[in-house]
Amino acid sequence: MRILFLVLLSIALFSCSGNDDFVAVSDNELLDFSNLLTINFENLPNYSNQNIPNYITKDNTTTGNIITNEGATLGRVLFYDKQLSSTNTIACASCHKQEVAFGDDVQVSLGVNGVTGRHSMRLVNSRFSNENRFFWDERASTLEEQTTMPIQDHIEMGFSGEDGDLNFDDLISRLESTAHYPALFNFAFGSEIITETRIQNALAQFIRSIQSFDSKYDQGRAMANNDVQPFDNFTPEENLGKQLFLQPPVFNNQGIRTNGGIGCAGCHQAPEFSIDPNSLNNGVIGSADGLGSDLIVTRSPSLRDVVKADGTANGQFMHIGVSSNLITVMNHYNAISLAGNNNLDPRLRPNGFGQQLNLTQDERDAVIAFIQTLAGNDIYTNEKWSNPFVE
Ligand code: HEC
Ligand code: HEC
Repeated sequence: MRILFLVLLSIALFSCSGNDDFVAVSDNELLDFSNLLTINFENLPNYSNQNIPNYITKDNTTTGNIITNEGATLGRVLFYDKQLSSTNTIACASCHKQEVAFGDDVQVSLGVNGVTGRHSMRLVNSRFSNENRFFWDERASTLEEQTTMPIQDHIEMGFSGEDGDLNFDDLISRLESTAHYPALFNFAFGSEIITETRIQNALAQFIRSIQSFDSKYDQGRAMANNDVQPFDNFTPEENLGKQLFLQPPVFNNQGIRTNGGIGCAGCHQAPEFSIDPNSLNNGVIGSADGLGSDLIVTRSPSLRDVVKADGTANGQFMHIGVSSNLITVMNHYNAISLAGNNNLDPRLRPNGFGQQLNLTQDERDAVIAFIQTLAGNDIYTNEKWSNPFVE
């Protein structure tokens, strides 16, 4: 009751003064949800002004939705809230787990009505790419649009509005009837109104805030003039792996590599290691249920934090979670098959043949050692991206 009163009071003050600063002034005292949330609303974590290295230039932030601490905080609460599923049992974080770089440690993830058709994607440095479409097949045209699609998915969170499922308005009513959400939307957006757009904006702000730039790669890159030059902090093996990753291969007319690097960066673009927007599929064309093929996967999450610094995999790799070790990945790119694939990227089809990289053991080991340098530490444990709910 007291909360409601203060909310009303703050709205009244806002209408009278028309002053944008009211959120910061009057809301701090009313946002006491310490029985529910561990967040200190008077001293929010820094989401809006994090340190981004100057060599990071790719950014898919949608015009009009820059990160604010209040917006990302609301996004964090939504991300961890099981009320976003029809059965109150599944949160975004159920399938996007901080300890595995916001991916999942199982091949396919459990939703409210069964398992997902593809492997869950890591959400690290999602902001830092030229590609602004999301999902393995890029069917969401912005991150904002993506964020409410799992909620409206029958299998994942169950607010599809079809076949007896609740619909999105039911979710909005559910959030409106809580004590905290109207106040949190007011805190983030200046009024208590809950809309799909506001939910999308808050979730997208939180996801774009999840950044990882404390890797060995970043330490080396900060001291170098560019990505190509050898890094002082790298072992000779890691520098060899980097060179192989960055340089394009030279092929003979049979598609067999005779010289050069192995061309990974053509699609996993340094230094963000985000996917080239023009990439077609990479030859992994199976479907997670083993039935049929999945040719339309043309996106990969950033290769940063695909494994941890010690080499431990953050869940399985590729859209079907084919494996969780980079040896298999190297074997895949070493010998690309054309069979049954009409959407293979031309870079992997030199002179009309599936590429044969002819990798030596030393080259494989070097590239794997290099990919491990792309792993950060902070994202796995930083409290600002963790579950804010009181257990
Ligand atoms: C039941 C498991 C599950 C739940 C719950 C879930 N996701 Fe996902 N998420 C996935 C899977 C699986 C994919 C890949 C699906 C595909 O591409 O077809 C994915 C993909 C994504 C992507 C695309 C990442 C990229 O790089 O393209 C984002 C962003 C995302 N999810 C955010 C969310 C948000 C926000 C929520 C909560 C509103 C959520 N997810 C709930 C399993 C889940
Ligand atoms: C022609 C573009 C292209 C090239 C070249 C390429 N990749 Fe990929 N890569 C992709 C695509 C697209 C995916 C997502 C494929 C899927 O899930 O089915 C991917 C997925 C991956 C993944 C799994 C990511 C995840 O989140 O599960 C790894 C690891 C990877 N690539 C490493 C490499 C390495 C190492 C090389 C160099 C030998 C390389 N890639 C070359 C396009 C490319």
